[in-house]
Amino acid sequence: MRFLWSVLFSQILAVVIAQRSPISLDIISGAPASGQSKVHLTSSATGFDAPKALPINGSSFDWYYFDIISEDSRSSIFLAFFLAPISSLWDNLPVFPTAVWTDAFISLPDGSALNLDAGGNDLIVMTTVNGSSGTLNGTGWGWAGVPDMSFYEVIIDSPETGVQGTLTFKSTAPAHFPCAPITASGEQSFMLGSAPFGWANAVPDANANVDIVINGTEVKFSGAGYHDKASILAGNWGPTAVDTVAKSWLWGHARFGSYTIVWYDLISPDGSEHVSSYISRKGKVLAASCSNMTVRPTGANSVFPPVFGSGPPGGFHISAYVEGEGQLELDVNHTTLILGDSNITMYRWSGMVRGGFKDDRHGITLDGPAMYELFAF
Ligand SMILES: *[C@@H]1O[C@H](CO)[C@@H](O)[C@H](O)[C@H]1NC(C)=O
Ligand SMILES: *[C@@H]1O[C@H](CO)[C@@H](O)[C@H](O)[C@H]1NC(C)=O
Ligand SMILES: *[C@@H]1O[C@H](CO)[C@@H](O)[C@H](O)[C@H]1NC(C)=O
Ligand SMILES: *[C@@H]1O[C@H](CO)[C@@H](O)[C@H](O)[C@H]1NC(C)=O
Ligand SMILES: *[C@@H]1O[C@H](CO)[C@@H](O)[C@H](O)[C@H]1NC(C)=O
Ligand SMILES: *[C@@H]1O[C@H](CO)[C@@H](O)[C@H](O)[C@H]1NC(C)=O
Ligand SMILES: *[C@@H]1O[C@H](CO)[C@@H](O)[C@H](O)[C@H]1NC(C)=O
Repeated sequence: MRFLWSVLFSQILAVVIAQRSPISLDIISGAPASGQSKVHLTSSATGFDAPKALPINGSSFDWYYFDIISEDSRSSIFLAFFLAPISSLWDNLPVFPTAVWTDAFISLPDGSALNLDAGGNDLIVMTTVNGSSGTLNGTGWGWAGVPDMSFYEVIIDSPETGVQGTLTFKSTAPAHFPCAPITASGEQSFMLGSAPFGWANAVPDANANVDIVINGTEVKFSGAGYHDKASILAGNWGPTAVDTVAKSWLWGHARFGSYTIVWYDLISPDGSEHVSSYISRKGKVLAASCSNMTVRPTGANSVFPPVFGSGPPGGFHISAYVEGEGQLELDVNHTTLILGDSNITMYRWSGMVRGGFKDDRHGITLDGPAMYELFAF
């Protein structure tokens, strides 16, 4: 068993050893530590995709997130490996007696949905240069990333629960800090907003494939992939820890024509608005900054900023100014409400974006698939 995992792991190790690359290993226990945790939210402190809150102690935690959406936006999968006690996040999460666990949602064109999850005793994370690899010990769930983050794979090898397969991500767009491209010189911060909420977007867009068999049923599609991680140092212990670093956020990513966009519009606990704007074309970064973008709900319930209790908006509109390219205007329309809970004010959709640069020097209106969410605490 677990053969998929060991093959990939040994390939990465072989490259790392041959190139004498830096490597670090963290064994994160499912029983959160008591006492102080160290949270590293600067570029010089750790590899780009390394764990940033160690040990996790109940009020400091991390998660690793991956998604893939088909070109027509009708098939999607998203999953996260959480290094966080469930009580510190939001409601409606699976209940595990451990702080290291994974949760995955699959949405299919016939309207059906699947939820897979697993909890482990330990999560073992290896960081080689900037890429991370992790294994949720004893569950068959893990991921692997190469040192320059150009390729990631999620591996599920759990015949005992009837789930086996892989998700592959071949990056098409360079990584970025919240306010700068990865190539920016000097010390960069992973912090987004005025509270210690860390965000590292290793893979803004990827050519991605899903190939999973669930009890004999094959789930197979390709499309746009994405990977990031978040790190939180919350101001208190308890069921609302995450609301001490964010009041609300609108986040999403899309691909349209040869462009990639990642948006993050976050309201910090002090009420200030912070945006992270990322736009690339054919693998070249056009914008990676904390300015010149707005993301606004449209249609029904178009309240901004969203507040706890807000209903699901009808869509979103994104405006961004890109130096040398002009004004980008995009409309986002829903295809599927993947998760929606008005009690915790959390909505996640797959959908389509449509738009382009306003001056139309670039010619045509473009469309493409998007995955996005709204949270308000
Ligand atoms: C976790 O560590 C941080 C220091 O980084 C500290 O502020 C916080 O109180 C600790 N939390 C717990 C529950 O011990
Ligand atoms: C991983 O799990 C195996 C058995 O399931 C156990 O023997 C091993 O000690 C675990 N490793 C860590 C680092 O917890
Ligand atoms: C790793 O990330 C740093 C920024 O934190 C960057 O300067 C460096 O070029 C990256 N190295 C690789 C191999 O991706
Ligand atoms: C696969 O089938 C087994 C046996 O019926 C069941 O216990 C398990 O939950 C199924 N797995 C999934 C992911 O539905
Ligand atoms: C934002 O747009 C203004 C022009 O409207 C430009 O001067 C500025 O450089 C842009 N900022 C970034 C970070 O791109
Ligand atoms: C929201 O809360 C109400 C009252 O507690 C409950 O009846 C309802 O089922 C909840 N809705 C969802 C989607 O969980
Ligand atoms: C979104 O819906 C509006 C109104 O129904 C429509 O005008 C627009 O073309 C749609 N956009 C996309 C990307 O489907």
